[in-house]
Amino acid sequence: GLPEYVKIVEVGPRDGLQNEKVIVPTDVKIEFINQLSQTGLSVIEVTSFVPSKWVPQMADHTEVMKGIHQYPGVRYPVLTPNLQGLNRAVAAGATEVSVFGAASESFSKKNINCSIEESMEKFEEVIKSARHMNIPVRGYVSCVLGCPYEGSITPQKVTEVSKRLYGMGCYEISLGDTTGVGTPGSMKRMLESVIKEIPPSALAVHCHDTYGQALANILTALQMGINVVDSAVSGLGGCPYAKGASGNVATEDLVYMLNGLGLNTGVNLYKVMEAGNFICKAVNKTTNSKVAQASFNA
Ligand code: HMG
Ligand code: MG
Repeated sequence: GLPEYVKIVEVGPRDGLQNEKVIVPTDVKIEFINQLSQTGLSVIEVTSFVPSKWVPQMADHTEVMKGIHQYPGVRYPVLTPNLQGLNRAVAAGATEVSVFGAASESFSKKNINCSIEESMEKFEEVIKSARHMNIPVRGYVSCVLGCPYEGSITPQKVTEVSKRLYGMGCYEISLGDTTGVGTPGSMKRMLESVIKEIPPSALAVHCHDTYGQALANILTALQMGINVVDSAVSGLGGCPYAKGASGNVATEDLVYMLNGLGLNTGVNLYKVMEAGNFICKAVNKTTNSKVAQASFNA
């Protein structure tokens, strides 16, 4: 059966904007996050503490983190690939962080400039240090249904990397279909393997929608007991180190589907569409959300 409550992790300000060519002004990011905070979303990923030479769009991480209003009941995690990132994030006021690894050696090299093994050593340092500060750490695993450089990735490899991060103390593992190549078939096979080692209650899915499969893949995950789903308002998103990958599943479309299933999210669809409208205007884009398109045309 399906879970009663689904937690949505809004990644729009981070995944959604990291790939935008034109630098989004810091005050626009802050206003965007403040609007999202008033939609009922309980987790909003704010930014990444990575060098600006790697991701120029996230260069204002400190200003954004310090500038947002932190609403009660909302959590504001940020990406931190290493100790330097963690320390800067904490100095800027972050109280939750995420490390991000991959189930593909080639993607790991391109995205974080080290092998999977080396990344695990860095993440262990981050997790240990975070624990001393009582900071929860989420663990991402990219390329769980395929890699832009290697093609197919085995469920065994995904399970091995996920288990390692979970064993180190990540409270939740977000399984990323980075290029959106997965289908309900490959999602099911991958999850059947991972669930043998990690309880579904500690898993999340993070689906890019390149091939239009994201909602179907998410429904498959829900049916398998997973109740945390990552999404980005307006379907923004993409990874600078995964060329050709398009945006995340749109939060509007996800909320619409969950509402239709009678699952509680606590999120106000109308307010999310307003935040989507705001950011699309600011980056001069039309929304990728089918629900927003339909509603604005109605
Ligand atoms: P590196 O160049 O190998 O790092 O990058 P390094 O440790 O060799 O250091 C090089 C320089 O950077 C040094 O400075 C460090 O001090 C500095 P220098 O001595 O040359 O002056 N440095 C830092 N500065 C500020 N903040 C830091 C930091 N770390 C080192 N945190 C690194 C390695 C991991 C840093 C780099 O490869 C990187 O930042 N990669 C991240 C790329 C990224 O953000 N990708 C997108 C996010 S992941 C994603 O989108 C997938 C996801 O959505 C899930 C999915 O869809 O699958 C999560
Ligand atoms: Mg992503």
